[in-house]
Amino acid sequence: MVNVGVIGYGYWGPNLVRNFSDTEATRVVAVADQSDARLGLIKRRHPEIGVTTDWRALLANPRVDAVAIATPVRSHYDLALQALEAGKHVFVEKPFTETSEQAERLIEEAERRNLVLHVDHTFIYTGAVRKMRELVEEGELGDLYYYDSVRVNLGLFQGDVDVLWDLAVHDLSIMDFLFPGEPVEVSAVGVNHVVSKPADIAYLTLLFENSAIAHLHVNWLAPVKVRRTLIGGSRKMLVYDDLEPSEKIKMYDKGITTEGSSEDEYQRRIGYRTGDMFAPKLDSTEALRLEAQHFARCITHGERSLSDGHAGLRVVRILEAASRSVMERGRPVRLGWKGRGG
Ligand SMILES: NC(=O)c1ccc[n+]([C@@H]2O[C@H](COP(=O)([O-])OP(=O)(O)OC[C@H]3O[C@@H](n4cnc5c(N)ncnc54)[C@H](O)[C@@H]3O)[C@@H](O)[C@H]2O)c1
Repeated sequence: MVNVGVIGYGYWGPNLVRNFSDTEATRVVAVADQSDARLGLIKRRHPEIGVTTDWRALLANPRVDAVAIATPVRSHYDLALQALEAGKHVFVEKPFTETSEQAERLIEEAERRNLVLHVDHTFIYTGAVRKMRELVEEGELGDLYYYDSVRVNLGLFQGDVDVLWDLAVHDLSIMDFLFPGEPVEVSAVGVNHVVSKPADIAYLTLLFENSAIAHLHVNWLAPVKVRRTLIGGSRKMLVYDDLEPSEKIKMYDKGITTEGSSEDEYQRRIGYRTGDMFAPKLDSTEALRLEAQHFARCITHGERSLSDGHAGLRVVRILEAASRSVMERGRPVRLGWKGRGG
């Protein structure tokens, strides 16, 4: 049994407390939040859990094996570093950190101490995204050509991050999970409509080494909620709509074929293939439930986290490059990678 302490019981923290409490392999023993009102709420909901306004007391608690951090992004680095230094395994919310240097430092600390460092890239634990990975790995889609997504709603304006760091992080983590390679170039534009607040609408384009391309549209100022992604491959294409109650993924046996000699481009003809649509059955287990179980197995059985610090770092690197591009009105920024592991 892994004893978890949760820091931050605002909007997302209660989901972590509920899932770590309901998972057999984990139990929540303490929650820290600066707000007495939030602590009052947890005392009413979970009288058995110890509460404190001081996260240092939670880190000093010898019963706590692992710490889950669900505070605003600006505090992730300090809290995670101190938790690791206190010998605790760490589960930290997305986006992992504010800078890639911070992410690298946390990875180094966790590896040196042989502790699990896990980033909550929630979507990769959903039935839909796990199924898409299966389809990609089985070659059902063929070579991946594009990822094109719209993630918009009348969103909660965040104080410390813009819409890219709040919403695009989900698509970047899904792409990191599905695409075999990393993007090599990023360009992004973003604007804000509230003085002194960060960008509320942004468009991000990513180019890969082969001709794969991704486009993400994120917006906190949309009148309706849309969570729709098109993924195109050389064999099949799919539509992933996270708001669909059951048929979240629809696979289309559609595509093009080329005929004629590749030497003579005028002789080449494009043929169109339109076959059946298929909606695979998906596992509907709550993503955070599976993630809590996976985190516990990483601690007790030495499994490697599917969203470890390195995955968190890859996403932060892209977000940093995207922010640089936004500052320079969409100038493409090259990404240098040190390999999948680091
Ligand atoms: N995985 C997801 O899908 C998902 C969804 C929403 C939010 N999040 C992430 O969760 C994190 C928190 O977001 P939120 O929307 O819950 O924020 P929030 O502002 O609603 O809640 C944060 C809570 O942390 C507390 N807090 C802040 N600093 C603290 C400290 N040093 N010690 C103790 N308590 C402290 C605050 O009092 C507040 O109750 C962010 O990183 C956000 O990106 C993830």
